[in-house]
Amino acid sequence: MVGHVNVSYAAIDAAQLDSSMVAAIEGVHRLAFAASIVGREYPAEEVAAALPADAEQPGFCMRIARDRSGRLVGFAFGYMDFPEPPTAGWSKRLADAVGEDHYEWLDRAFGFAWFAVLPSVQKRGVGSVLHDALLADVASARAWLVCPAHETELRAFYDRRGWQLLATDDLGTGTDRAIMGLDLVAARRRARPATMSAHLPRTRA
Ligand SMILES: CC(C)(COP(=O)(O)OP(=O)(O)OC[C@H]1O[C@@H](n2cnc3c(N)ncnc32)[C@H](O)[C@@H]1OP(=O)(O)O)[C@@H](O)C(=O)NCCC(=O)NCCS
Repeated sequence: MVGHVNVSYAAIDAAQLDSSMVAAIEGVHRLAFAASIVGREYPAEEVAAALPADAEQPGFCMRIARDRSGRLVGFAFGYMDFPEPPTAGWSKRLADAVGEDHYEWLDRAFGFAWFAVLPSVQKRGVGSVLHDALLADVASARAWLVCPAHETELRAFYDRRGWQLLATDDLGTGTDRAIMGLDLVAARRRARPATMSAHLPRTRA
């Protein structure tokens, strides 16, 4: 339960990403991904170094969680990675894996880039709150993410929150990745009483 760890949550914009915040995110990333192949492929210092530029991307959204002492214990962020169809690199590979017929899952969709909670605070509901709060605020109609296909507990976490498998591909890494998509309009409808659905804000995409 969230109450077990007495955590508070906040939205963070580019202007609030000062060096101490970036350093705290780097620390949480390092510990959270220590047991995952993702931590070796994307070292925490590289993710931290890219963060100021990520924060300038269209549609950037971030949520953080802090414990009672103010220590950062979790974060989640993403942005719109496909304002137009990619022609090269990792993005092209991802689009090819999803396929032309399903490109709508990437087209101006929210790319859920990074999501991590300190191992000592995991499994107490903090990740769920970060996930839901972040995606509730996103303007796009769809979201996508990539995670290691073999990390079954993580896959189950996303399955239970409505994410669907779009494709499996190694994306040049040598191990299979699950590319997953979430229909945010349907997810918001599920999260609110049916009588409120007529008053949902219009989405951009
Ligand atoms: C994925 C991650 C962010 C989830 O964070 P978290 O704070 O552990 O998430 P939660 O506690 O909300 O939920 C995780 C699971 O813990 C369990 N859980 C939740 N509350 C619980 C509680 N009070 N007691 C025991 N277990 C609990 C549940 O199984 C829950 O899954 P479910 O709600 O789908 O049943 C975290 O595991 C992490 O940082 N992993 C490493 C980095 C990573 O893989 N990031 C994602 C990259 S794509």
